[in-house]
Amino acid sequence: MKKVLVATQKPFAQKAVDGIRKIVEDAGYELALLEKYEQQAEFVAAVADADALIVRSDKVTAEVIEAAPKLKIVVRAGAGFDNLDLEACTKAGVVAMNTPGQNSNAVAELAVAMMIFMARTQFTPATGSEIQGKTLGIQAFGNVGRLVGAKAKALGMSVKAIDPFLKPEQIVSGGAEPAATLEELYSGSDCVSIHIPATPQTIGSIGYDLISRMPKGATLVNTARKEVIDEAGLYRALKEREDLKYVTDVAPDNIETLKAEFGTRVFATPKKMGAQTAEANLNAGLAAARQIVDFFENGVTKFQLNK
Ligand code: 3PG
Repeated sequence: MKKVLVATQKPFAQKAVDGIRKIVEDAGYELALLEKYEQQAEFVAAVADADALIVRSDKVTAEVIEAAPKLKIVVRAGAGFDNLDLEACTKAGVVAMNTPGQNSNAVAELAVAMMIFMARTQFTPATGSEIQGKTLGIQAFGNVGRLVGAKAKALGMSVKAIDPFLKPEQIVSGGAEPAATLEELYSGSDCVSIHIPATPQTIGSIGYDLISRMPKGATLVNTARKEVIDEAGLYRALKEREDLKYVTDVAPDNIETLKAEFGTRVFATPKKMGAQTAEANLNAGLAAARQIVDFFENGVTKFQLNK
């Protein structure tokens, strides 16, 4: 009997676990759960007899792959796959997949909420501002970026976007005005929302040069990855410009310094929670389980990342 292991440091909602179990058991497979584990060693031990693996941001390292001789498929229930060692997967003949789009709305709603939270001075009595009539710049116009744009437009914002993989006309058809360059996006937006993945090209790519271009009173929103920010550059920009704000779901390593120095101009969630809704858990978890069954039963590799 095939064994599917769900290894989640940050567990899925119960309803999602129940749904995953049903899909897996209906296919005649067995489900194993490893939730809220604290040591990577626990994960490494749990994969020993797994044929398939479902994870969230859990680190699927070469060590994990090597400890799983039966493993054929790993599905990251979510979008970003910087937690998967794709090379190790390929080397071991393991198919790696993600579930693009399944948790996007949850992240997009959080990005909009964060924008309003900062505009209203973190819900303190201090006078805030409104987002209606302001310009939002969206860095990367994929599943999340497009949803953020649509929600921002409904709230009366003007929306600009940039995406290295899209033509300007594709950005227009997605409902935003294309920005010619990143510099233009940052200098022309009261708020910039970041939706790029963490890759060797993007890591540390948003720093002083871009952030300090933002107009007076601007807010930078990061629901993507902490690694894309150059922390020293962010610190310098916030230090020089008393009007700038930074809000994030992926706290930088220097968050305590930022909070101590910049008070309510900076906010970070204690733990990444953009995709932590019942709906997103259900969408992404069930999609992952279905992709595994479809792979074993029908050879479907639609969302394979390591082709
Ligand atoms: C993603 O890449 O899908 C999001 O960052 C969600 O990550 P999570 O599953 O760890 O919440």
